[in-house]
Amino acid sequence: MFRMAGMSVQLRACTCLLMVAISISESGAAVDAKKVKKLEFYLHEQFISEPGYPATDVLAASATGNTSTYAFGNLGISEQVIRDGVSNVSTIIGRAPGTFQPNKQERTFALYKLLTLQTKEWNGTLVVFSDWISDAPSNEWTVVGGTGTFRMMRGYAINTKADGSAQTAFITFKWEVFLTPY
Ligand SMILES: *[C@@H]1O[C@H](CO)[C@@H](O)[C@H](O)[C@H]1NC(C)=O
Ligand SMILES: *[C@@H]1O[C@H](CO)[C@@H](O)[C@H](O)[C@H]1NC(C)=O
Ligand SMILES: *[C@@H]1O[C@H](CO)[C@@H](O)[C@H](O)[C@H]1NC(C)=O
Repeated sequence: MFRMAGMSVQLRACTCLLMVAISISESGAAVDAKKVKKLEFYLHEQFISEPGYPATDVLAASATGNTSTYAFGNLGISEQVIRDGVSNVSTIIGRAPGTFQPNKQERTFALYKLLTLQTKEWNGTLVVFSDWISDAPSNEWTVVGGTGTFRMMRGYAINTKADGSAQTAFITFKWEVFLTPY
């Protein structure tokens, strides 16, 4: 009886500790801000080839014959250029091979990319996915993991339109990537 009571006190203490732990992790929203590493770069997408700037996106397959960028059933392949600045003559620091698929909801896409970077600090690949809204001023990506200096890293990324539009031959996105080790 005494032992049982002792156990239940211990159990209650345990539950209490667990609840404290949960509330800490909930109030701390994501993770310790000091551990978050931030990267910033620009993804340069070219719709129409121009001298020195080949097209970065191609339609690879169309299930319906409708070749609109927004037609559901299409599959696209892309490999955008990653530069350290918004200018199209800034230094190339990587590339972003991937795919794009228009969703059923008009002007949205399922996107997948391999952000392959080579800078002084970062040398490796990050795998990113997004359910992407083309008209939104910014979109969020999940960062699943990586290789090289990105081993054991994960997090999220925000892309924001920085130059160009769907009406110009190019569009440039600022990327902010927030990473923490597993
Ligand atoms: C082709 O797809 C686009 C985007 O979904 C749509 O707006 C358009 O009406 C389609 N065209 C035809 C001929 O179905
Ligand atoms: C390079 O950027 C400038 C400034 O945004 C733009 O006017 C020009 O068309 C771009 N060139 C190419 C090939 O994208
Ligand atoms: C980047 O990593 C690759 C292999 O993972 C290696 O061959 C290359 O030398 C590295 N580059 C730098 C600048 O460290």
